[in-house]
Amino acid sequence: MSNLRFGPEIGVGKKKESAPVVAPWLSRIQAIAEDLEHLPEVNGTKTLVHRGDARDVIELLEPNSIDAVFTSPPYPNEKDYTRTTRLETVLLGFVKDKTDLRALKKSLVKSNTRSVYKAGDDDSWIENHAEIQRIAGEIEERRIELGKTSDFERLYHRVTKLYFGGMARHLAALPEGLAAGSTTRLWAPWKIQGVFAEQGSTVMSVCVTP
Ligand SMILES: C[S@@+](CC[C@H](N)C(=O)[O-])C[C@H]1O[C@@H](n2cnc3c(N)ncnc32)[C@H](O)[C@@H]1O
Repeated sequence: MSNLRFGPEIGVGKKKESAPVVAPWLSRIQAIAEDLEHLPEVNGTKTLVHRGDARDVIELLEPNSIDAVFTSPPYPNEKDYTRTTRLETVLLGFVKDKTDLRALKKSLVKSNTRSVYKAGDDDSWIENHAEIQRIAGEIEERRIELGKTSDFERLYHRVTKLYFGGMARHLAALPEGLAAGSTTRLWAPWKIQGVFAEQGSTVMSVCVTP
């Protein structure tokens, strides 16, 4: 419907024919409003919001305090989450200047080449992970084959390792509340320069055993 594009940043594509968007949008808003009306009924639920780096989650949560984890991790698709949420970030007072922005970028799992810093070493977490090393190696080979030489294209294979390393760090830091031997699986759509993880495969699986 929209001519907004992600590529990797948000842009505007070819004009499309107008479509009625207000009514479907309003009906979604109505559904959200109805959900909110029911909230007082579940008022007893304690909610706690931590602002922090998910890779250091163990510093924020009590051991044995977690029964289940729902996660919506960043997608490694060149999306810079500090850009897509910059309005909220500034309005909420999280970023006042470039120093704050840099600190915020550093606190995120590396899912795009623009936030790769020399000092990052999350890749050490997946040094011995054959499938991730294979994917990263294939991405780099394909880049060379295609003659892609820009600074960010050169970083594709590195950001791949930093991404999965960061996720491994996060999953391994989950506190001990998970049932013994439970397995947390990370799923992320993966396609970069035509390189895919094998369909239906589990690229990474981390076992959290109390
Ligand atoms: C796919 S989005 C999920 C968004 C979320 N479900 C929502 O509705 O706002 C991934 C989010 O993970 C955040 N993120 C990336 N690295 C993180 C980290 N190390 N710790 C905590 N959040 C992180 C990104 O900023 C982004 O907002």
